[in-house]
Amino acid sequence: MPFTTTDLSPLVGTRVDTDKAILLGGTKAAELRQLLEARGVLTFPKIGLTDEEQRQFAQTLGTPTDQGERGLHKISLDVNVTETAKYLKGTLSWHFDGWNDPVPARGTVLTGRVLSKTGGQTLFSNTYAAYEELPEAKKAQIAGLKAAHTMMGTQRGVHELVTPEMAADWQSFAIHRHPLVWTHRSGRKSLLLGSSADWIEGMDRGESDALLVELKAWASQPRFVYRHEWQVGDMIAWDNCGVLHRVEPYPADSGRVLHRVTLEGEEAIA
Ligand code: OGA
Ligand code: MN
Repeated sequence: MPFTTTDLSPLVGTRVDTDKAILLGGTKAAELRQLLEARGVLTFPKIGLTDEEQRQFAQTLGTPTDQGERGLHKISLDVNVTETAKYLKGTLSWHFDGWNDPVPARGTVLTGRVLSKTGGQTLFSNTYAAYEELPEAKKAQIAGLKAAHTMMGTQRGVHELVTPEMAADWQSFAIHRHPLVWTHRSGRKSLLLGSSADWIEGMDRGESDALLVELKAWASQPRFVYRHEWQVGDMIAWDNCGVLHRVEPYPADSGRVLHRVTLEGEEAIA
């Protein structure tokens, strides 16, 4: 039975070489879940799962949500492919998914279907490692701070043209307050940042912007980041509670489509 795992860098990302039967049978599910949390992102090069198989595999890792068509969400910047495309330009900035859900998604399984000729590489930053390597003085400075997460934050910087309708829509979303440092049930801590983190509560806006930019710059240093160059049929699973992710710019009419199954959240932010 083929099943080998290879770390892609010291701090983030592991490649899993195996076959469909092993993934769908679930015999390695416990090991994969553990690896996912330890490594942030798992890649399954050219595994070529069908939609149904992708759902089935996701089920071995957690509880798939019903987002999209029968649980399969098409990720595209083209509004003709998916209605959610209007918000997906936000994927160009570092973010985690589900800042506005009571319990953010546990993880996500994504398959490359159609790729863009230019751009479209996906980057993942390990936010456990980024927190753990912060200088002690910085950890002390950010302990107890909370950020306000907004739709405005996820969208403001990424559109060339903002219409009054778009601005009004973004304003209509609720603001959610989350700690800058997530203390997980496991006892480990991770940085909780990203474009949704709009400002830090109780801080002057300039000071808050400076700290958020500084922490994002810290977390996006190459040693914390894995960058995936897609090939058709690749599948990736990421731990949405322990990584930030973003995609490098690609044209909205490039045809790029990834198929995504989202795993229900398991742990409230604390
Ligand atoms: C997502 C996402 C990145 C990409 O599906 O949540 O951010 O590469 N996707 O399209
Ligand atoms: Mn995302």
